[in-house]
Amino acid sequence: MHIIGGTASTALAERVSRRLSNAPFGIPFTKRFPDGEMYVRVGGRLENEDVVVVQSTRTDADLLELFLLVDAVREAGARHVTVVVPYFGYARQDRLFFPGEAVSARALCRHVELGAEAVITVDLHSPQTLQQFTKPAYEASGVPAIARLLRERPVDLLVSPDKGGIERVRRMAALLDKPWIAFEKKRIDSDHVELKLPGDLPMPLSGKHAVLVDDVITTGGTIVEAAKLLRRNGAGAVSAACTHGLFLRDAFERIKAVTDEVFSTDTLGNPAEKASVAPDIAELLLAHRPGA
Ligand code: R5P
Repeated sequence: MHIIGGTASTALAERVSRRLSNAPFGIPFTKRFPDGEMYVRVGGRLENEDVVVVQSTRTDADLLELFLLVDAVREAGARHVTVVVPYFGYARQDRLFFPGEAVSARALCRHVELGAEAVITVDLHSPQTLQQFTKPAYEASGVPAIARLLRERPVDLLVSPDKGGIERVRRMAALLDKPWIAFEKKRIDSDHVELKLPGDLPMPLSGKHAVLVDDVITTGGTIVEAAKLLRRNGAGAVSAACTHGLFLRDAFERIKAVTDEVFSTDTLGNPAEKASVAPDIAELLLAHRPGA
């Protein structure tokens, strides 16, 4: 297996290669032509190789680089290509909300899989999006990576900031053998939310270390409100953990101001990256390698 790390995911791709007994790892050469168009070239011997291209698609440029990388590794003779998209952008628009819209998540699935035999991603916005791929597609979870880190912390309670995250927090709670709760969330606009504690708490919050667990932190509005609510109700310490740390604008600083610790996995490079999904991606690659 040969791992190629696109510019959006170089560090994570290298970690994946290390988890695969130091599988050959390459970084492509990229540049822009004077008119702004992108150029990529991959090195190494890829003839008849099983090649894994790792590239998160947070920006349109990341997406374009992924398309060019898949073409480049094919051209270099790759036999089997797996595309690993740790953060899968455009996944929020996963259905039609108004007539005439594009279902962006579906459109992206159709394009991302072109030229590849399989796709791996991590914590999609909605798990049903996986069914939009026509090739074999697998989803890793950020939960085990975060749980590995939380095992080193004195956690009392796990908290999902909304009901949509119940499966995630339940799974985390089972791994750590801790109680969990989920808030009621009402989104006011893209930056503001209203949250409510559930009626039946498994323990008084007073003096306890509560850890908020979410799939993605974008503007930080949800986590800031959730942390404040926990503090108002007596929590002694509040931490925030997510799989995908987008941290738009000043989100990271705003969250740091109301929490004791904030961390994410390494699906997107950011200052809160403390847990790695490399072992989980490597496990999926081994389980679904060609001929396995
Ligand atoms: C919502 O469904 C997600 O799980 C996150 O809670 C949400 O996307 C976070 O967004 P923000 O950081 O902008 O509040």
